[in-house]
Amino acid sequence: MKILILNASPRPNGNIAQMLETIRTEAINQGANVTMERVQQLSIRPCMACMKCRSTGNCVLPEDDAQRILALITDCDALVIGAPCYWGNIPGTLKTLFDRIVYGMMGENSLAIPQAMHKGKKAIIVSSCSTIWPFNILANQTRGVVRALKEILGWSGFKIVATIQKGGTLRYPEFRESDRKKCIKVVKKLKIRK
Ligand SMILES: Cc1cc2nc3c(=O)[nH]c(=O)nc-3n(C[C@H](O)[C@H](O)[C@H](O)COP(=O)(O)O)c2cc1C
Repeated sequence: MKILILNASPRPNGNIAQMLETIRTEAINQGANVTMERVQQLSIRPCMACMKCRSTGNCVLPEDDAQRILALITDCDALVIGAPCYWGNIPGTLKTLFDRIVYGMMGENSLAIPQAMHKGKKAIIVSSCSTIWPFNILANQTRGVVRALKEILGWSGFKIVATIQKGGTLRYPEFRESDRKKCIKVVKKLKIRK
């Protein structure tokens, strides 16, 4: 199984990074082929909304990391996205990436009804925020991240098999044993060993 992990946190040793590293190690131990990319390090120009890609299936902008990441998404069997909550939503860098690759995630028929391009693939969403539990969920903080990613991944055909929503990272910044256990548990949902 080929797994692509996208880390949308700019902090190399932050909460998301630690959770994703645990998931990466566990997935490799179970025999998966894992690629990890840090969204903050990518060079991606913003979408110009010309809509040309919807009919041509290509982006008019000069090639940058958007096309490279789309190729990795196309090639993977499962996608793991780690995104800290910024303003109740995903970081702008991650949104910029997904805005650039709509044409490779979903098509549209003549009535503009979405046609998913990644049916049969699995996805895991990992999020964190400083708002403490349960308000990270009740006040739509990490829940806002999950909602935003479900919108993108859902229309693209991915089946979201697990989510992790870690709240209270300001008050409890350390990576705890309970975090590690949650990360190990979600990898099982990918059913790497069949
Ligand atoms: C620009 C910015 C906006 C943020 N917005 C929110 C927010 O809306 N709600 C929240 O609970 N935490 C917010 N945070 C805090 C982060 O979500 C939190 O520190 C998170 O755990 C960071 O993850 P990391 O350590 O993996 O980078 C924000 C942080 C930044 C830098």
